[in-house]
Amino acid sequence: MRCTVFGTGYLGATHAAGMAELGHEVVGVDIDPDKIAKLSGGEVPFYEPALREMLQRNISAGRLRFTTDYAEAAESADVHFLGVGTPQKKGEYAADLRHVYNVVDTLVPLLRRPAVVVGKSTVPVGTAADLGERAAALAPAGIRVEVAWNPEFLREGLAVQDTLHPDRIVLGVQRDSQLAEAALRELYAPILANGVPFLLTDLQTAELVKVSANAFLATKISFINAISEVCEAVDADVTLLADALGYDARIGRRFLNAGLGFGGGCLPKDIRAFMARAGELGANHALTFLREVDSINMRRRSRMVELTTGACGGSLLGANIAVLGAAFKPESDDVRDSPALNVAGLLQLNGATVNVYDPKAMENSRSVFPTLNYSTSAIEACDRADAALVLTEWAEFVDLDPETLAGTVRAKVVVDGRNCLDASRWRQAGWRVYALGRPIGEPTAA
Ligand code: UDX
Repeated sequence: MRCTVFGTGYLGATHAAGMAELGHEVVGVDIDPDKIAKLSGGEVPFYEPALREMLQRNISAGRLRFTTDYAEAAESADVHFLGVGTPQKKGEYAADLRHVYNVVDTLVPLLRRPAVVVGKSTVPVGTAADLGERAAALAPAGIRVEVAWNPEFLREGLAVQDTLHPDRIVLGVQRDSQLAEAALRELYAPILANGVPFLLTDLQTAELVKVSANAFLATKISFINAISEVCEAVDADVTLLADALGYDARIGRRFLNAGLGFGGGCLPKDIRAFMARAGELGANHALTFLREVDSINMRRRSRMVELTTGACGGSLLGANIAVLGAAFKPESDDVRDSPALNVAGLLQLNGATVNVYDPKAMENSRSVFPTLNYSTSAIEACDRADAALVLTEWAEFVDLDPETLAGTVRAKVVVDGRNCLDASRWRQAGWRVYALGRPIGEPTAA
């Protein structure tokens, strides 16, 4: 089959390459000529494991190309995916839908055959129905244009796997839909053949599935982080507690890692947009708990600064701090609303000299926070440090050798912002170990 994907950012580029990998002929479309030039040359403008290989393989096979030309794209297929961004509006909680509307407004008048416009972007409930009416009004006379919604659940760092092997496919269709289900079943046939559940819904349910999933995940993380605050008050250990909770199959261990909390381009903005939309719909009480979820999460960042201050003897003035990790999570170079980079900035604001190292997010971090110091390795960042902070759980940091690092730092003090280090190993190497939600680990060797 043939399809297009509008928007070649994180979601769109991955989806375009994924659809080509399934054997379809795909055109990726974007208004940014630089992005299109890079992708056409087989380069991914961000870090995502395995994506570059999948992109190059499909470009070489002639199944995947990129363009800025909407008319060419409109002509090339009858299924058009929307994968443009829906960021948080400046100064408000609501989502900015300008890009989604721009695509529909430009694309639909160019269509010459019946077509399905399939939204993948995360949007406030009600958007798809509105776009459906708009598309019907903008379509050339006699051309049927349907809007459907097929939310994307991919995780950064695992985007390729999540695209080719999703947990489920949700498709919301218009009440009078004739084309969407058949088209999407055919496009996703290789995935569905593996037994992946296919849920056909109305438009608004499909939109809500996505934001509800992210609200649930955010709530799970903030739940354990709230418990972590109580653990700190009584010297209990939140990681052991989470393990014990996780054995209950009704609860499950995943997304119960206490620490610095959630960030990134999705969870924070999605829960805020969800609250804003519920308010508009007169259901604001239903989601007031998400305000607490958000505030527990943001509190983690200031708590991390307090913990570090304590670890440095009560003041950050003049302290030399190594910050290991800047991306919002490992296997990503994304620093959007990154708790790690936020903490690095706060430490500097409190008078510390901050040396940041991240395996992939250096360039993005520098453009957001040019005034921090950036090192070229973990060891270099730890040079004469009064405390080493692990703020993103990259395997490289989890595997750091505390014996080796001991020779580099000024004080053997490590602060584990992600509860990812083997505390007893560090203590045995003479380190004092601080962590969120756990008692201080005193060194067991000199
Ligand atoms: C999320 C959703 O998981 C995905 O389904 C959706 O499509 C997009 O948003 P992503 O933003 O890639 O994906 O990140 P995710 O893996 O969900 O992690 C979000 C944040 O939560 C990260 O900052 C991570 O460090 C943090 N987190 C995750 C925790 O603090 N504790 C956990 O136990 C799990």
